[in-house]
Amino acid sequence: FGRKAVMLPSTLSTQGDVQKLAEEGVDEGAVVFAEEQTGGRGRFGRKWFSPSGKGIWMSVLLRPELAIQHTPQLTLLTGVAVCRAIRACTGAQAGIKWPNDLLIDGRKMCGILLESTVEDHEVRYCVAGIGVDVNFDKHDYPEDLQHIATSLKIETGHPVDRTALAAAILTELEHLYFLYQKEGFSVIASLWEALSVSLHRKVTITNPHGVIEGTTVGLDPSGALVVEKQDGQRELIVSGEVSWKS
Ligand code: BTN
Repeated sequence: FGRKAVMLPSTLSTQGDVQKLAEEGVDEGAVVFAEEQTGGRGRFGRKWFSPSGKGIWMSVLLRPELAIQHTPQLTLLTGVAVCRAIRACTGAQAGIKWPNDLLIDGRKMCGILLESTVEDHEVRYCVAGIGVDVNFDKHDYPEDLQHIATSLKIETGHPVDRTALAAAILTELEHLYFLYQKEGFSVIASLWEALSVSLHRKVTITNPHGVIEGTTVGLDPSGALVVEKQDGQRELIVSGEVSWKS
């Protein structure tokens, strides 16, 4: 991955840039990095704060042979790859909040947005967007983010080399992606479960279908989160937002 890499000083969103490359027929593994995004996007149509030089704002093109119902597997895989790279590069004890937010001590320092383009019920390609807050100081955050977000610099006490970390993320992503294609999802699921901070907790899950309360017990083979409700019934969750009281 990263053999075709484009570095931009500023862009709207690297997601759109990679989508354009995908439509032009570029091979999988192509990456776009931006120093700054003026319209960075998060999950559920949220904005992603992407100021210049403070983070890794990158998107990677994937062309998996994947059934639509298995795209959550790729979402989880990307989270595992980034989490492992951050731990290896910085020693920070990053954990994964379902599906793929990365947290340190309960604060988010990385978000992942996996967008799939589907045609005739088949996945044509996926764009894995990765945003890591690397060298933010506390005062770089707007007020509303100060209590919920953190950066690798804040957590480790020193600046982190963005180029080295971006390279480690790509290496890990490529490694896990090929492992997944060879061995299937179960090995990724085990890695995810070991890094997860959202298992075996009493949680509330909010998604377009409503609110579900229960205890998270693990992943099912398709990559859905298994939640056991109070009446003992199990539900499979494929999208939404998890919260819990610490
Ligand atoms: C989230 O946690 O809601 C996902 C955030 C994803 C942010 C990254 S930064 C690089 C790529 N470009 C975007 O516009 N978004 C993703």
